[in-house]
Amino acid sequence: MANTSSTSPVITCKAAVIRKPGEPLQVEEIQVDPPKPTEVRIKMLCASMCHTDILCCNGFPAPLFPRIPGHEGVGVVESVGDEVTHVKVGDTVMPLYLGECGECQNCSSGRTNLCHKYPLDFSGLMADGTSRMSVGGEKIYHVFSCSTWSEYIVLESYYAVKVDPRLSLPHASFLSCGFTTGFGSTWREVNVKKGSTVAVIGLGAVGLGAVKGAQIQGAAKIIGIDINELKQEKAKAFGITEFINPKLSDRSVSELIKEATGGLGVDYCIECTGVPALLNEAIEGSKVGLGTVVLIGAGLEKSVELNYIPLLCGRTVRGSIYGGVRAQSDLPKIVEKCVNKEIDLDHLITHEVSLAEINKAFEYMKHPDCVKVVIKF
Ligand SMILES: NC(=O)c1ccc[n+]([C@@H]2O[C@H](COP(=O)([O-])OP(=O)(O)OC[C@H]3O[C@@H](n4cnc5c(N)ncnc54)[C@H](O)[C@@H]3O)[C@@H](O)[C@H]2O)c1
Ligand SMILES: [Zn+2]
Ligand SMILES: [Zn+2]
Repeated sequence: MANTSSTSPVITCKAAVIRKPGEPLQVEEIQVDPPKPTEVRIKMLCASMCHTDILCCNGFPAPLFPRIPGHEGVGVVESVGDEVTHVKVGDTVMPLYLGECGECQNCSSGRTNLCHKYPLDFSGLMADGTSRMSVGGEKIYHVFSCSTWSEYIVLESYYAVKVDPRLSLPHASFLSCGFTTGFGSTWREVNVKKGSTVAVIGLGAVGLGAVKGAQIQGAAKIIGIDINELKQEKAKAFGITEFINPKLSDRSVSELIKEATGGLGVDYCIECTGVPALLNEAIEGSKVGLGTVVLIGAGLEKSVELNYIPLLCGRTVRGSIYGGVRAQSDLPKIVEKCVNKEIDLDHLITHEVSLAEINKAFEYMKHPDCVKVVIKF
């Protein structure tokens, strides 16, 4: 008989736990509760590291410790709650941090992926206000309701998206946050117009996704901007038409963008670094009256000072979670592009670690050639 919430036992397994901000993670034995009626328990097969995980280990978006980081990954459903109907034991799924009910005001609008019923959760707990993970009775917080750096996790079932079996496990993992977020920013969030100009600041997995999205949308000029020279070659493979390394100039990023666009600035500027000062540069580097900035980069700072006049001059700033991509309505379209090799995610894989070596992943992220660290279970 398939495991259900009423028959499945507590599982003891290994997970990467962070107990204090900035400290190394410890791989500990934890207890993972059975899923409640609308939840699923997933045996993780592969995970990966997003820059936001580094922030989470330093207390983002709230200092909830001890916690198990990780929000990119893929796994197989081990047990389901009694009310779960849309996924079953044995399904391979991506645990997302956003769901799509299809019925709330936001889902019905067709203009945002931020569902009211299955929202991005900052509490570190499941929807009922409790955790499914503990160490000898001590509560462990989740991260964005998933915590993928654990051999087993519990997730609200509507955050689990079935994986096309033609997708490799690392590729599925990258699609559960970083790459999709960037790709969606230029596709779903602002729907970049054919022939337009785009600047992408920060060429990690998110920025490279934004570049690819802009290329597929038919942008005429895609300027990749990064202080790491090694990102140039990768970004060319994803579609930049030119590269700017601001470190090689004494001019500001906005001046460099204007210089590359005949003085006007770009139609769209995508901020993918999380460096607060670059938000003003993105605004000033976009066109007066027409320019749109998409803010994706996140940081530990709670606020940023905006220059008033450039914003008054007709520019739009749009914040974005997961690139505006809806779990059910949009994600399969990106998956299809990956399966038919219109998008080649192999370019993103640079490093691999086992769960036991999780702290190495943080070291690798500092290597100049690092884009994605895959975590194998
Ligand atoms: N809004 C969302 O839904 C969402 C989702 C995923 C990631 N993020 C955020 O997006 C950002 C990027 O994530 P990532 O995983 O691609 O990170 P990453 O660390 O892999 O890449 C960041 C890139 O920015 C470059 N960079 C850093 N400082 C720079 C500067 N001053 N000027 C130009 N380039 C600079 C780095 O060299 C690097 O190539 C992070 O802030 C992350 O927290 C947000
Ligand atoms: Zn909804
Ligand atoms: Zn992420």
